[in-house]
Amino acid sequence: MYKVIQDLTESRSLACTALFVLFFVILLNPATAVAQPASTDAQVTARVDALLQQMTLEEKIGQITQIGPDPIGPNAPKPEDLIRKGGAGSVLWTIDSARIQKMQEIAMKESRLKIPLLFGYDVIHGYKNVFPVPLAMASSWDPGMVERAQAMAAYEASVSGINWTFGPMVDIARDARWGRIVEGAGEDPYLGAAIARAQVLGFQGPRLGTPGRIVGSVKHFAGYGAADGGRDYDSVYIPEELFRNVYLRPFQAAIDAGVGTVMSAYMDLNDVPASGNQWLLQDVLRRDMGFRGFVISDAWAVASLKVHGYARDPEDAAYRGLTAGVSMDMGSETYLNNVAKLIESGRVPVSVLDQAVREILAIKVRLGLFEHPYGDPAAKEKVLNDPAHRAATRTAAQRSMVLLRNENNALPLRKTIARLAVIGPIADSAEEIKGSWTVEEGPGVSVLEGIRSKLPSAKIEFVRGGDMQRLVPMPWDGAAGRKAAPLMPEAEMAKEVEKAVKAAKGSDTVVLVLGERANMSGEAASRVSLVLPGNQERLLEAVVATGKPVVLVLLNGRPLDITWAAEHVPAILEAWYPGSEGGNAIADILFGDVNPGGKLPVTWPRATGQEPAYYNHNRTQAPEDEPGFTSRFGDFPTAPLYPFGYGLSYTTFAYSNLRLDQKSIPTSGALHVSVDVENKGAVAGDEVVQLYIHQRAGSASRPVRELKGFERVSLAAGEKKTVHFSLGQEELKFWSPQSRAWVVEPEEFDVWAGGDSKAILHSEFRVTQ
Ligand code: NOJ
Repeated sequence: MYKVIQDLTESRSLACTALFVLFFVILLNPATAVAQPASTDAQVTARVDALLQQMTLEEKIGQITQIGPDPIGPNAPKPEDLIRKGGAGSVLWTIDSARIQKMQEIAMKESRLKIPLLFGYDVIHGYKNVFPVPLAMASSWDPGMVERAQAMAAYEASVSGINWTFGPMVDIARDARWGRIVEGAGEDPYLGAAIARAQVLGFQGPRLGTPGRIVGSVKHFAGYGAADGGRDYDSVYIPEELFRNVYLRPFQAAIDAGVGTVMSAYMDLNDVPASGNQWLLQDVLRRDMGFRGFVISDAWAVASLKVHGYARDPEDAAYRGLTAGVSMDMGSETYLNNVAKLIESGRVPVSVLDQAVREILAIKVRLGLFEHPYGDPAAKEKVLNDPAHRAATRTAAQRSMVLLRNENNALPLRKTIARLAVIGPIADSAEEIKGSWTVEEGPGVSVLEGIRSKLPSAKIEFVRGGDMQRLVPMPWDGAAGRKAAPLMPEAEMAKEVEKAVKAAKGSDTVVLVLGERANMSGEAASRVSLVLPGNQERLLEAVVATGKPVVLVLLNGRPLDITWAAEHVPAILEAWYPGSEGGNAIADILFGDVNPGGKLPVTWPRATGQEPAYYNHNRTQAPEDEPGFTSRFGDFPTAPLYPFGYGLSYTTFAYSNLRLDQKSIPTSGALHVSVDVENKGAVAGDEVVQLYIHQRAGSASRPVRELKGFERVSLAAGEKKTVHFSLGQEELKFWSPQSRAWVVEPEEFDVWAGGDSKAILHSEFRVTQ
């Protein structure tokens, strides 16, 4: 048909006829007839409306239902049977490409309306080739790299048949006890927005339907990272000004970048569960933030509205979810089993159901799914094993690591070291190094293996040195094949420490690898304490006591209490969970083939009791830098161990010449800021140049500092560059609790530029009416 229309349109006199035919075809059989994805809003709407008109109530309810790969309960229909009768719009958690293909064939060939399915999965930091965990990727301060990484992950997913990822996760996290801090970009709304945007563009491409890309789902809307006490799923209380100024900004960036779907969060937001919260999902998300895609609940979150003590029963939960604006129910089948009753009783007008169906169909049309519903089985093997993808994970890992300490240039190590001890409970693990969200099994490189390949002729002794485990198991631990290993008995751990000490004594240098197992961060993995789990602190102190040079490498998903190490270990490298090639990337940095340039996307506390810890807090009535009673702790330093934005390099950088092109601008204006940064050392290196502002007075107290610009620059030894920023309405505005609107206020501002949030190079400007 497309060819016919093309031929027709070659003759200008027949162009109108062709358009007429095209329109007619869309109306008659929109599911199958047109070979080109609809692109204009009008085309999408026409196609969706035409399809909607043909749908039965059952088929509509199917569209708003995402089923799991297995039936729920003994008498529930098999997923394939449901799909055949149009009873599902999407399938969750299936990565078996053959089964995906089969299910999609059933939808496309055997269901009445031939509406393709969305296959959703958590493609978070890679598919088979695993990139660093999101918190690590944010530590790169390199949105370009992040975008390329997610484009590769999307490509691997799309050839495998997955067309929808539950990412990016953009929840701001100010409390490292919260396990899911690992899944986001840290504490800052500006950095968070830049990384959110990059991830959406990476997953989706410049528009939905870009070949080889998939649709994203920005999550968890909204405020999940502020869980009370850092306890996962706990209630969240956020005043509107904080919500809009901090928590919503990365979501706005994702929406502006065109994200197709939003995932509603699990928790209560100011006492109203996010997945049944009309103000949140309608007024804020759709009206104020301009979101035009569809909302999927988090897994089972619609059913959970009853568990929360919000909905009376499943029918009420379906009512509250649907009318609040959750377009699709993930997994719980609460819509599937209850929406028909709600429509028939008149409690939910059919227009509400139709709106949800429209939103979902529109995304399917925009994705081009009707034309290209399948993965690419022929290409899968090649794409997933593409050496370029593997190499990209190594580069990403190198760029994500943060050098926290390097006294007397303890790093890089010489490659001529003859005897090296590698010590640590997960130093030899090719699995833990990848972090907790991997999709298809793929190879990984442990720290031990990475070091061995870097120093093929050195004598390398490995000792575990002890153990650590989650003390409260995951729900599935103990299920077949997933049994968590028990913690090593105390006596054995003591012996391991002795072995480690012996190995250290017999070596020239020790690489000590400490941190957390991957299942200690992520969902349902909050911790009451940030101390090194298991016997690691003891191991650390015993190894350091040998007097041998020690390098500490951290594998972890959150800032940890390393205050003792920060005084006694000369070199500390934060590697996070660096992904498939993590061990090689760590060795690249330890032995100086790569100069680290990552910076912390989170404030690093000295002790758990400092949490929540974040740099962009307000100035109190008695700030720490003033005499008298102050906002200090009475028993402990208040300052963090390492500030937000911090990270060292094997070279040093000097900042100078902070220039503003104007000293005064109107509220509608913008000024240009530039600063010189110079590499003062003998090796090339990267520096993340950061720009911070502070509004000195106004209709509300403003944070002591706020990041408003950054750029990662590479500088050869001795090289100097000028970095440019712009400060305009977007950077200066804030949501004022007094006017309950976005404002740029005519006030005085401070501005600083430098290598972290403690930057001292300062200037100022004024905004006038
Ligand atoms: C629950 C998690 O909160 C969410 O982030 C994830 O996308 C879904 N499960 C689906 O796996």
